[in-house]
Amino acid sequence: MKRGFGSDNHAGVHPQIFASLVAANTEHAPAYGTDEWTDKATEEFRKHFGSSAQVFFVFNGTAANVTSLRALSKPYQAVFCADVSHINVDECGAPEYLAGCKLIPLTTVEGKLSVAELEKAYIRRGDQHYSQGQVLSLTQPTELGTTYSFAELQALIAWAKSKKMFVHIDGARFTNAVTYLKKSFKELTADLGVDVLSFGGTKNGLMMGEAVIFFNKDLAYDFKYIRKQSAQLPSKTRFISCQFQAFLQDNLWQKISQHSLQMAHYLYESVKDIPGVQVRGIPQSNAVFAIIPSEWVKKLRENYFFYVWDESTFECRWMTSWDTQREDIDGFTAALKELAQ
Ligand SMILES: Cc1ncc(COP(=O)(O)O)c(C=O)c1O
Repeated sequence: MKRGFGSDNHAGVHPQIFASLVAANTEHAPAYGTDEWTDKATEEFRKHFGSSAQVFFVFNGTAANVTSLRALSKPYQAVFCADVSHINVDECGAPEYLAGCKLIPLTTVEGKLSVAELEKAYIRRGDQHYSQGQVLSLTQPTELGTTYSFAELQALIAWAKSKKMFVHIDGARFTNAVTYLKKSFKELTADLGVDVLSFGGTKNGLMMGEAVIFFNKDLAYDFKYIRKQSAQLPSKTRFISCQFQAFLQDNLWQKISQHSLQMAHYLYESVKDIPGVQVRGIPQSNAVFAIIPSEWVKKLRENYFFYVWDESTFECRWMTSWDTQREDIDGFTAALKELAQ
């Protein structure tokens, strides 16, 4: 399949990550995270997030979210989330089924939640008939490719804390937000009062694997049991942790996210003035959203795969990844220009 713009998880494994897997492929090593790669990866995470960060590896992003929510809520409690959030629309009800909590999806603008919407949802406190909001879950960057600014995060998290709610971040593409905002990992999580982060690897060059990072030690206490009971304790954890070690070491994460963001900008600049193409806005992560005439989709997809995000408007999502090349974008732009003639 030709390199297209379907998703960053359509890309293969970054060569440096692949090399880490080969290097970890020694004869024998202890299982279930008691190995040297897991220790080293945890050390790398603590360099970025602070020494008290508690790190747990799981297989995928859905599991990172669901196990995080299990740790943060009781079955009679609720999670405030974006209407477009992955936990709400793309996890087949796993948070409700496995974490037991109720999701309360709220109206968003450009994929982002606001304090005003949260205030509207914060009702019936103490009412035994009503599921009590206990967690605020934010996606950073959002499913619509936007990124919450530092000030927006401060306001949302301060609101949650004022209500004694926990804060979870779905960071399947968190490194892209960090690069876009030019802040440190710690400034965007622990320092703001985030309790748990689902930290993505798969969409950023890893073969597979995500990390659940707790900044609130008390909440982390039972997590090893939650992870095991949720069938998410990898026995050969070293093959996930070695990838994260390589990802964080020597700032590979930054090189990858800078590249993906630069490619998204190049794509945006290349297509924004093509007649018939209505681009949403300057990219704030590695995605470009654009409305195009419906009859163009089939033709374009013959060579470059992508998803139609909104079937009613034919808004499409074009996503870049660690391996996107300028030639891919030039070819795609040429195809769009030909259709626009
Ligand atoms: C924002 C977000 N969160 C979580 C996930 C879940 O990842 P996985 O498919 O590994 O379960 C995705 C995957 O598309 C995502 O886009």
